[in-house]
Amino acid sequence: MPYAKTGGLADVAGALIRELASLHHEVRAFMPLYGTIRAAVNGKLVPEVGRAIVTLGSTDYEYSLQVVDSRDSPSLARIYFVDCPALFDRAQFYTTDPDEHRRFLLFTRAVLKSCQLLEFAPDVFHCNDWHSAFLPLYLRTVYAHEPMFKRSRSILTIHNIGYQGIMPVAAAGDIGLGAAESQLDQTDFKQGVVNALKHGIRFADVVTTVSPTYAREICDEPLGMGLQRELQSRPDGVLGILNGVDYRDWDPRVDPYLTSHFSPQDTRGKRLNKEQLLEQSGLNLPVTRPIIGMVTRLTEQKGIDLLFDSLPEILELRDCGLTVLGSGEPRYQRFFEDLSKRYPTRVAFRSGYDEALAHLIEAGSDMFLMPSRYEPCGLNQMYSLRYGTIPIVRNTGGLADSVQHFDARAGTGTGCVFNDYDPPAVRWALGTAIDWFEDQTRWQTLVQNAMAQNFSWDRQVSQYVMLYERVRNSSKA
Ligand code: ADP
Ligand code: GLC
Repeated sequence: MPYAKTGGLADVAGALIRELASLHHEVRAFMPLYGTIRAAVNGKLVPEVGRAIVTLGSTDYEYSLQVVDSRDSPSLARIYFVDCPALFDRAQFYTTDPDEHRRFLLFTRAVLKSCQLLEFAPDVFHCNDWHSAFLPLYLRTVYAHEPMFKRSRSILTIHNIGYQGIMPVAAAGDIGLGAAESQLDQTDFKQGVVNALKHGIRFADVVTTVSPTYAREICDEPLGMGLQRELQSRPDGVLGILNGVDYRDWDPRVDPYLTSHFSPQDTRGKRLNKEQLLEQSGLNLPVTRPIIGMVTRLTEQKGIDLLFDSLPEILELRDCGLTVLGSGEPRYQRFFEDLSKRYPTRVAFRSGYDEALAHLIEAGSDMFLMPSRYEPCGLNQMYSLRYGTIPIVRNTGGLADSVQHFDARAGTGTGCVFNDYDPPAVRWALGTAIDWFEDQTRWQTLVQNAMAQNFSWDRQVSQYVMLYERVRNSSKA
């Protein structure tokens, strides 16, 4: 169970740590000790770090470090929590506070400082997203002469290029590069901004992202979101490694959140989950009618805009149900709230974050809708496949790499895939999936195809291991 989760990164980081340790690699993961998780963490204070100071601009921040041994591989995997209440005791993990950049600059600097104090020189610093994207530049500037890190290399994984960590130029002093400040992108600088992710892309030894299709998409417009040139100018490009699924958490045979389990050989439990989901969501829909599930952050990325027209139309035309769990932007919340008022027996919306309900929606729905505008990888479509819940997805990023459109005649394929980012395309996809559902023999073929898919992490992790080996033996660019 992740310590802090708003989306897929938590699942991915947790699984990668577990898998690497199970292959006998030593992993030390760092994350902020967010105030809201303090009680759950309850780690041991790390004496080598004690009360350390990191200076950002003219402010000294004191931090300490707590450590927890991983439950699965205590000898090989440790989680370190950077405890700086001045910056991390906030109501949310991510904020829009004016010092947001400082929170993650402190975090990045504290990671490097703590490694020094622990006398721990990793072969590879594996950074994720903009929050730690300055680390490769620190290694090449502030820490360039630290003998300990002479052999350390850096990898940046982009989980979502839509979040770049853009800060005002006034933050340059906080970054603390001293004489090396000239390494900051000068064009941006003149325009009054500093872009954290851009510097990660420029200075990391390797850049990866979380699916092969997204790796291609971000090297171009529009999905490069302004960073396509930066990515294109890396001689080694961007490597796409598809995320995996941790089937210890997400498999209907063993899912700890479910009261009824099921498998491809015996799917009866799926119906029991559906009954439970209908009841829990307060829906009054015959169990023989299709129910569409969604579990999502409610942001523009997820394609909710496409549903404003298409969902009411489908609900008018077809006898189906919809159950949505999500949190995020108020305009999307309002849309689903209104929809559930308009169709109280067929549409349920639950606002907020609820792990147990997320599992029940996966298990009890017939279809799972992800109309994303873009999707670096996406995990729920892979979870859905394992639960025999047919994904309806747009042909983008990791969705394209993990779902094949069903060919009803040949009986091949695993879901319903649509191309265009517009309401008619979603309407077509929903209508098509419902048509398939009406022929239960055909539908069961599709369900079996879906459940036979395997996105297990133990396959994906070998790609990371090969990458670590390669980068470890490389000379510094
Ligand atoms: P992203 O990271 O862009 O949000 P992913 O598909 O990679 O998308 O991962 C989303 C993860 O977060 C899944 O494990 C999903 O079940 C979970 N999730 C998203 N919203 C909620 C919510 N409101 N309640 C519970 N789990 C959620
Ligand atoms: C991001 C992406 C999502 C991906 C996840 C984990 O949040 O939006 O597509 O699955 O990171 O890599």
